[in-house]
Amino acid sequence: MTCLSFLCGRKVDPTTRPSGFQDELSGVHNVNLYSYRELRLATDDFSPENKVGEGGFGCVYKGKLKNGQVAAIKVLSSHSRQGIREFLTEIQVITDIEHENLVKLYGCCVEGNHRILVYNYLENNSLARTLLGGSQSGIYFNWPTRVKICIGIASGLAYLHKEVRPHIIHRDIKASNILLDKDLTPKISDFGLAKLIPPNVTHVSTRVAGTVGYLAPEYAITGQVTRRVDIYSFGILLIEIVSGRSNNNTRLPMDEQYILERTWQLYERNELVLLVDATLNGDFDAEQACRFLKIGLLCTQDSPMLRPSMSTVVEILSGKKDFDESTITKPGLITDFRDLKIKSNPKPQHHLYHTSSNQNSSGSDTLDNMTSTSPSSSRATMTFTAICDRSG
Ligand SMILES: Nc1ncnc2c1ncn2[C@@H]1O[C@H](COP(=O)(O)OP(=O)(O)OP(=O)(O)O)[C@@H](O)[C@H]1O
Ligand SMILES: [Mg+2]
Repeated sequence: MTCLSFLCGRKVDPTTRPSGFQDELSGVHNVNLYSYRELRLATDDFSPENKVGEGGFGCVYKGKLKNGQVAAIKVLSSHSRQGIREFLTEIQVITDIEHENLVKLYGCCVEGNHRILVYNYLENNSLARTLLGGSQSGIYFNWPTRVKICIGIASGLAYLHKEVRPHIIHRDIKASNILLDKDLTPKISDFGLAKLIPPNVTHVSTRVAGTVGYLAPEYAITGQVTRRVDIYSFGILLIEIVSGRSNNNTRLPMDEQYILERTWQLYERNELVLLVDATLNGDFDAEQACRFLKIGLLCTQDSPMLRPSMSTVVEILSGKKDFDESTITKPGLITDFRDLKIKSNPKPQHHLYHTSSNQNSSGSDTLDNMTSTSPSSSRATMTFTAICDRSG
């Protein structure tokens, strides 16, 4: 492993570094750089036995680094288009971030066409595999643990939205991006990753299809990215954690398949408690659980401007602040995934996902009015019927 702040002033081995590498590095500091060789050794030549998962960005391997640290090594599949300097500048932003509820990035490898990220390895995998993945994981999520997980995720996201400069919109909050350490402390992963991936339409469309259950309607329609897109996804995740089921379950009766639709029905009937995970065997604080479900509804309201900021969500989840539940409005729903068509191809202009210059000190509105495409503002208020294009 090499630390770039040292490397910048040092002769670099021309056989392992692309030409012009030193120029690329000027201005980039404190990013740990691993050689491809070290990562190959760490993962036993990226052997299938060490593979712990695969997502839209590439494969993830468990490995042991030279210094003995156990790491999750993510080999990005879309690698060749982004320059080393641009890649490292983005990495630097993520590297500098430290928070109890965010996965720590140790560093990266940028040799040749290889773009590899090296993260802290989390022992208890993701919420998708453990809480929502059936009972195989052997982990029992009691009610206090779920409360801790919900507040932890909200805190991590509030930190990205408000404290980090420039602010970061995650864009892909979902159960598989919430990892758990040995004490089941939640860690948000993949933050800032959208910026590292070149405008690769295939990946973006895959991801839109793959995680559409978490997608805010205004984002699905227009590609408009604001913090409120993350808040919507968080709302879905919150309901998943309380109910122990994933947002879409086709094995359930038609009117129960989509968790958000179901939550709204039960809310209207004042029966939210029926949604709480049955595996808790009644051992939970019913008032708190229903409150969490209502906060989930608050975060998924159709109108983005009505969704509370993540820092407010942290306060209401932890009982430090109240909210007026009579103000909860109907959620924005995308229920027909098969026919979902993104009208304006949301070719992501990655540099818009962060802001630096034009945010105000409270870190609020400017960012929330940002777009990743340039849709007309009226399109953001289109309703579900407009989302589905059945013409084929
Ligand atoms: N730091 C880590 N520690 C332990 N396991 C990890 C770590 N990062 C990722 N994983 C595992 O690798 C799997 C794949 O992660 P990855 O982020 O590539 O895909 P994903 O989250 O399923 O989808 P997406 O590409 O949309 O983020 C995760 O579900 C998790 O099980
Ligand atoms: Mg992920």
